[in-house]
Amino acid sequence: MMMSGYKQNVPAAAQRADGYSLEQRYYCDEGIYDLDMERIAGRKWIVAGHVDQVRQRGDYFLFKIGGESIIVVRSSASTINAFYNVCRHRGSLICTEPAGRVQRLTCPYHAWSYGLDGALVAARLMPADFSKSDNGLHRCHLRVFHGFIFVNLADGEPVDFDASFADLSPYLDFHGFADAKVAHRISYPTTANWKLVVENFVECYHCTPSHPEFSSMHPADALIAFGAGPSSGPADAVQSYLPTLRAWEQRAAALGRPIGTIDDDTESSHLRLLLQRTIREGYESETEDGRPASSLMGKRRGFDQGRMYLSFSPFTHVVATNDFAVLFQFTPRGALQTDVDLTWLVDGAAVDYDVPRMIWGWDRTTRQDKEITENNQAGILSKRYQPGRYSEHERRVETFQRWYLGQLAAPTA
Ligand code: FES
Ligand SMILES: [Fe+2]
Repeated sequence: MMMSGYKQNVPAAAQRADGYSLEQRYYCDEGIYDLDMERIAGRKWIVAGHVDQVRQRGDYFLFKIGGESIIVVRSSASTINAFYNVCRHRGSLICTEPAGRVQRLTCPYHAWSYGLDGALVAARLMPADFSKSDNGLHRCHLRVFHGFIFVNLADGEPVDFDASFADLSPYLDFHGFADAKVAHRISYPTTANWKLVVENFVECYHCTPSHPEFSSMHPADALIAFGAGPSSGPADAVQSYLPTLRAWEQRAAALGRPIGTIDDDTESSHLRLLLQRTIREGYESETEDGRPASSLMGKRRGFDQGRMYLSFSPFTHVVATNDFAVLFQFTPRGALQTDVDLTWLVDGAAVDYDVPRMIWGWDRTTRQDKEITENNQAGILSKRYQPGRYSEHERRVETFQRWYLGQLAAPTA
């Protein structure tokens, strides 16, 4: 039993060699994956979707994470619920379509029927002593924050939401996420361990060789100096980009943008990151030619040639250019399988937006990321894989690994 043996000997940070990628087992071992789910993914506030996906009463979608399926359903104008997709009769899945609109949640097996609030309302031919009120759906922790629907699979009390995220409010408010609407969604299921998906996303060492479209939309000096987090590049690159960044911050602040950085330490519960910087000179948006694909988002008064990168956690990221934003969801589904889902958001009042222009950059970039990450996983499965040395441009990967190993050894939530 690999898992029970492993549990007695939970990997400690000391087992990681500074400056090197992780040992092979972290990227493929089923026992470590189970621990990842139990100790990390199963305890964090993770974005399941956006409120625009459940605008009307009865609208629902499924959020699948690990072996769980969660029903996210609107029961009233003011209430969205999350339930485990498990019938209280004999355990069948209740909802089998990924999204829809229902009056009730009715199990396809023996037709037990639940209200949108999870209460069991109909169960035929049950014994007289059967209590419907004891057989409502199991709830999953849920919180709506600036339009993002967070769930938390913790069995007990989850880590405090407000203490974890309240300081992000000014940034999210400026971008108008609470009133945003979904312009497009694409899934890129990736045959790789979730940590490889995250590690790839938090370094820009691969941007120049792998992402011609992405690189074309950004100043090369910004990608080197700040591509992997605040001041994440070599010191001389940071020094030479800083005057440009500071001048932009002044311009952007004058247009109402809240300026600031968040860079959680490796002891934090969610390892959040917020970084704002310039896009390519002369560009107004992250599109092929730099022209916008939609109208300004949120409270903006003008295009400011900037962008925001926000990590709510390693599982959920948002990149916001001036006229649209992309929500990235990286959801573990198996030791070697990760759901990668992108949702393009536009201002709630936008009417004339151009989806092909909008998705041009991140759709291509994410297809490239899927391929390089799957290649990375396949190579790691070789008996010749051994931890390799990181560049100066992959410091954020190391930050993530320190956080990950710390959480694995002693979860903060
Ligand atoms: S398992 Fe759902 S009604 Fe029987
Ligand atoms: Fe990439």
